[in-house]
Amino acid sequence: MGGLARLEIHSFRNIGHCAISPDPELNVIVGANASGKTSLLEAIHYLALGRSFRSSNFKPLIQSGKPETILFGELASGASAGLRKSRKGEQQLKLNGKAVRGWEDIAREMPVQLLDTTSFSLLTEGPKLRRRFIDWGVFHVEQAFLPAWRRAHKALLYRNSLLKQPGKPDAGQLSAWEEELVAGALQVTASREVYCQRLLCAFSQALSTLDKGLGGAVTLQFHAGWNREHDLAGLLREHRESDQTQGSTRHGPHRADLLVKSGNHRAVDVLSRGQQKLVVSALKVAQGELFFETREQRPIYLVDDLAAELDEGNRKGVFDLLQSLGAQLFVTCVNRKALGSNLSEPVPGSLFHVEHGTIMA
Ligand SMILES: Nc1ncnc2c1ncn2[C@@H]1O[C@H](COP(=O)(O)OP(=O)(O)OP(=O)(O)O)[C@@H](O)[C@H]1O
Ligand SMILES: [Mg+2]
Repeated sequence: MGGLARLEIHSFRNIGHCAISPDPELNVIVGANASGKTSLLEAIHYLALGRSFRSSNFKPLIQSGKPETILFGELASGASAGLRKSRKGEQQLKLNGKAVRGWEDIAREMPVQLLDTTSFSLLTEGPKLRRRFIDWGVFHVEQAFLPAWRRAHKALLYRNSLLKQPGKPDAGQLSAWEEELVAGALQVTASREVYCQRLLCAFSQALSTLDKGLGGAVTLQFHAGWNREHDLAGLLREHRESDQTQGSTRHGPHRADLLVKSGNHRAVDVLSRGQQKLVVSALKVAQGELFFETREQRPIYLVDDLAAELDEGNRKGVFDLLQSLGAQLFVTCVNRKALGSNLSEPVPGSLFHVEHGTIMA
């Protein structure tokens, strides 16, 4: 069990007010262009993670002319999450009615996966998105991961700031922060590595279901962020001068990556757009599987415009796979026909029509 049992949105993008009780499995959101479909998914994403998938700034999220936005979600688990965010930046965040400072606990209660037209960037862009992808998985399956990540992150910030100071940095302080960085790095890396090994199995299985040939050809390789034939402490010491010239630390877990390869090539260099979309879909499904194995709960999948760039057969494959997960799905489309027969018929109450920001069941 997982997912949203109730969702309320106030003054978010073009949605003035919306209160819906989503289906535990399939929810189809139908509406013309600019009606507010993506905004609905974005509101769920923002409530769950504290960030949007299309704006880095929160201000465009608040409805024009309104002083604040309010989002509230009741989960099938019984937990509830609420957010009030004003145009001035004031924020009230609540979990189960109690104020919380950050999103850590809400994100744990409300695991959200996004599949949309920008999901390609997981393959096409730099390692940052892939690190975030791995870390989403590790965060949800291992409680100790976040403190270790924070430890390494803090040490990295201090080391970088020492390196940026004019003149020769204090060797004692550098050593102390490097020691901290290494301690956090080893823990973070061990967790990421174990997770990526598990991910590879689930991913290959999901991708083979979608396309047998691709499933056999595409592999994942975890890269820690430094050459592990060398010890990280030694590398950091050795590169102090060149890191200082560069103004940043070039070895460590902040440089980790998940290489997605087809044969000997980067997947993005040889696969078609449609094939890339299948690979990304399989990655996200694999994460859902691993999450379920550990937490016995399914994540919420926000699926926006998936039909774009997938042919009929592949669209059906991805939807079948998503539905077989038993996760709660929110799927947008401009009209029901655009999905064809790819999805099972939504049960009464799980088909939502969106018109000028108004959502009707
Ligand atoms: N802060 C805001 N206040 C009011 N309206 C906004 C705000 N931000 C965006 N909008 C408008 O909200 C509308 C809905 O956008 P949204 O992206 O949700 O549409 P959509 O249904 O997903 O459309 P498409 O099918 O084209 O993807 C757009 O007209 C957009 O310009
Ligand atoms: Mg949209």
